[in-house]
Amino acid sequence: MDTAPGSSRYADVMAAWRRDPAAFWAKAAEGITWDKPCDRVFDPALGLFGGWFAGGRLNTCFNAVDRHVLAGRGDQPALIWDSPMAGRIETVTYSQLRDRTARVAGALAALGVQRGDRVVIYMPMAPEAAIAMLACARLGAIHSVVFGGFAAAELAKRIEDAEPRVVVSASCGLEPGRVVQYKPLLDAAIAFSAHKPDACLILQRPQATASMVAGRDHDFAAAEAAAAPADPVSVAATDPLYILYTSGTTGKPKGVVRDAGGHAVALHNSMRMVYGVQAGDVYWAASDVGWVVGHSYIVYAPLLAGCTTIMYEGKPVGTPDAGAFWRVCAQHGVRVLFTAPTALRAIKQQDPDGAQLAKYDLSKLDALFLAGERCDPPTAIWAAEKLNRPVVDHWWQTETGWPITAGFRDLGLFPPKPGAGGRPAPGYDVQALDDSGHELPRGQSGNLAIRLPLPPGCAPTLWHNEEGYRSAYLADFPGWYRTGDAGTIDEDGDVWVMGRTDDIINVAGHRLSTGAMEEVLASHPAVAECAVVGAKDELKGQTPLGLVVLKSGVTTDPGTISKELVALVRERIGPVAAFREAHIVPRLPKTRSGKILRASLRRIADGEPAAPPPTIDDPAILDEIGAVLGSRIL
Ligand code: COA
Ligand code: AMP
Repeated sequence: MDTAPGSSRYADVMAAWRRDPAAFWAKAAEGITWDKPCDRVFDPALGLFGGWFAGGRLNTCFNAVDRHVLAGRGDQPALIWDSPMAGRIETVTYSQLRDRTARVAGALAALGVQRGDRVVIYMPMAPEAAIAMLACARLGAIHSVVFGGFAAAELAKRIEDAEPRVVVSASCGLEPGRVVQYKPLLDAAIAFSAHKPDACLILQRPQATASMVAGRDHDFAAAEAAAAPADPVSVAATDPLYILYTSGTTGKPKGVVRDAGGHAVALHNSMRMVYGVQAGDVYWAASDVGWVVGHSYIVYAPLLAGCTTIMYEGKPVGTPDAGAFWRVCAQHGVRVLFTAPTALRAIKQQDPDGAQLAKYDLSKLDALFLAGERCDPPTAIWAAEKLNRPVVDHWWQTETGWPITAGFRDLGLFPPKPGAGGRPAPGYDVQALDDSGHELPRGQSGNLAIRLPLPPGCAPTLWHNEEGYRSAYLADFPGWYRTGDAGTIDEDGDVWVMGRTDDIINVAGHRLSTGAMEEVLASHPAVAECAVVGAKDELKGQTPLGLVVLKSGVTTDPGTISKELVALVRERIGPVAAFREAHIVPRLPKTRSGKILRASLRRIADGEPAAPPPTIDDPAILDEIGAVLGSRIL
């Protein structure tokens, strides 16, 4: 790993954390304004693996907004909304953000929302999405944001599990070439769900007007204007701040819970330690508030640190061109950009020589951070050459909420080797384990795991599903958190994250469950059995590929069934699944005990040689599938 000019503090800071984790986190907690300091920095008796900052009290919205106004930053831009989709740019100062957030909190309170109540937020990338999140935090209510690219049935699952008192949504989202009507999706989701919210707060956007359900739906702008501002409510550090549903291995999403105190401390600390930014700097995470990157690095972390955050409603290409990201960086003076490798690949595809990039003054940009999937070395090298700046791939997941590994701008250690995810952040003891849970020597590939306890900011539990947390993350390797990723730690201590060990795939940086797609395919009346695997994709990293065996006696044309299956996944999961291929095959390869051999299917889909595994019941099936998929292999 290259070392930035100056001495590397990484080893010293890591050693200090290992020596006394509580002292390390107590120091980090000084960056947060507490209503009451904690009694114990870490209490091993709490929860599934101990709890952070027990006895402490705070309000996250106060820390992200009000305290910066009180400190004299009221006129500093807190949030810049840049929307090539809507053709608008709006700046919200910290004072304006405080006033709007307090009023929206008042509007939610008027609808009955109190501390501990849930509020589902199904919103496009409009400033009101961030304001609604902060308003919930202000009241001590628990928000659960649902990504706009999910269909009504997925939204319904989340409404049913989170049982919100109120849903905040909008009339529409804006995608290139189409206006996505959100309100009919919301209405359908509420109709599907056994739980019904008391009220909905709907942002009417100029591009589409939502029809309102009398008595249930309220206009966002009118409610905000009429509301009395609400003050921040003090909550326990261990209270949930939000629930974010993420894909697990089945169709039922996992409700990842974030606790207020650990989250505020870890995120605030990460802004300097990882990204090297401070109050007044402009920071841009080009993601969506529906994902963890959006929660942590569009909304909470930059605001907790007093930075200016950018909310971008657009794409890396086509809005209007492959220079869009560089235009935003230049126009708003971005110091650190954070995006997904897929976005860079899209830019590289359209502007391989960097002609667009050369048009903009990027003198303020210090570094580019990447996450969401492993960045392939050619893309990382291309970006570093074209930008002439450090390109830092860093590894994390919804459950951890902040980077597990990274290159650290404040510790003199960045960027990682192309293809690697960097070194463990202070707070994480990462090891590769064999399947029996033994630590592997450096250089050997295994299950990447984090020694318990997890640091502040990481999910303490799943919503109403402690047992699910135990079985998904803690049961396989006692004393460790199983990340679900496989990889290697090399001689230098750099962590190479090479892929999932379960049925989760990453499509354009979006985490999706193949199990959920299989459930949808299996519900089609013509389908006897099916498998969905992630196949390599040059732009999106992976795309889902369905292999389907039809019931005997089905006479419908296979092409028609394939089209129906593609439409069904779009309807039930949403366009974000990018499910475009359902191939009808005669049989699926299985072990003698009946388990589908997904790894062999993946290799065939990628055009790689798939030697029959010794456990296969009938090796001839692999050739049959190869023949069906032959046409798709490049
Ligand atoms: N609301 C409604 N629909 C949405 C949506 C939203 N918020 N986000 C995406 N979709 C739809 C898209 O319109 C598209 O629909 P289509 O099938 O009708 O074309 C589908 O979901 C797939 O979208 P996407 O994954 O964005 O693919 P794309 O082909 O439109 O664009 C990229 C490709 C690479 C430009 C795009 O995926 C991208 O910008 N990725 C970055 C991802 C990212 O930031 N991830 C965050 C993790 S850090
Ligand atoms: P999500 O919960 O959506 O953030 O997805 C988390 C998963 O994405 C991880 O478990 C990894 O499989 C993958 N991932 C995220 N960032 C990286 C990275 N930098 N390198 C490799 N894989 C990554």
